[in-house]
Amino acid sequence: MKNVMLWAGAGQIGMAIARRMGYGMKIVVGDKRLENAQAIAKIMNEAGFDVVSMEMDLSSRESIKGLINEGQKYGDITMLVNAAGVSPSQVPIEAILKVDLYGTAVLLEEVGKVIAPGGVGVTISSQSGWRMPALTAEEDELLATTPTEKLLSLDILQLGNIRDTLHAYQMAKRCNEKRVMAEAVKWGKRGARINDIAPGIIVTPLAIDEFNGPRGDFYKNMFANCPGGRPGTADEVANVAELLMSSKGTFITGSTILIDGGATSSYYYGPLKPQA
Ligand SMILES: NC(=O)c1ccc[n+]([C@@H]2O[C@H](COP(=O)([O-])OP(=O)(O)OC[C@H]3O[C@@H](n4cnc5c(N)ncnc54)[C@H](O)[C@@H]3O)[C@@H](O)[C@H]2O)c1
Repeated sequence: MKNVMLWAGAGQIGMAIARRMGYGMKIVVGDKRLENAQAIAKIMNEAGFDVVSMEMDLSSRESIKGLINEGQKYGDITMLVNAAGVSPSQVPIEAILKVDLYGTAVLLEEVGKVIAPGGVGVTISSQSGWRMPALTAEEDELLATTPTEKLLSLDILQLGNIRDTLHAYQMAKRCNEKRVMAEAVKWGKRGARINDIAPGIIVTPLAIDEFNGPRGDFYKNMFANCPGGRPGTADEVANVAELLMSSKGTFITGSTILIDGGATSSYYYGPLKPQA
């Protein structure tokens, strides 16, 4: 038996984290596109990792349970990496809410029921959630604590209250941060930790879809005018994951760490500030 890493979303960010943290573990990677999971499992297995791939849909509780069941065949689940997600240029509002908001909440909940003592997880939100004005304290609490099966029925998530796919994405990512805080309390009872990373623009297929999508110029302007002056890489996100998931991070739980080259700072107090 081995310690097991459950990993959702076989993209570039997920792979960078899995490579950094998963050596010596059994890694079970699930992706809605099986071919993505298979391709990444092949790359990693050829580099000395021990990865099995499966089809998994983050928006389905049954499918999430399938990932967990598969992992439990190999040993104790000690790590979770959630890097599955869809972006505003890829899918409609309902799909963003179902995958990024509901699916993430269910995954954190279900893995929180089985995570081993000393276990640790990270999920990936986005700087996007930091751009939206503050919600009310009541709305934040609803996003944090509403039972997962009722989340998508919240008034603030109804189509009339969501302007467009970007707004849906921002709400989903804000919800991720709040769920991580609420779940950290539950995971803590098992001696486990869960944190969130909010990346800025990281070059991956998802971001390349954004560069080529309707908001392409907006994105290119964003990294040209942020203090970092460039987009980031998945390996830089893995640096943060390593801090959060290693023994150096044992006092960190329920946190969201922003890694965006300063784009959010520029958005509020620099050249990226929206002109009135
Ligand atoms: N790349 C960026 O600039 C950036 C910035 C901020 C946040 N993020 C977030 O990082 C996460 C990972 O994105 P990435 O940039 O590595 O993208 P990616 O496209 O490389 O990987 C995302 C993976 O998630 C999978 N996926 C999509 N829907 C799924 C579902 N329902 N169930 C299971 N898997 C599903 C995709 O098939 C893909 O393999 C996402 O949550 C994204 O919102 C990315």
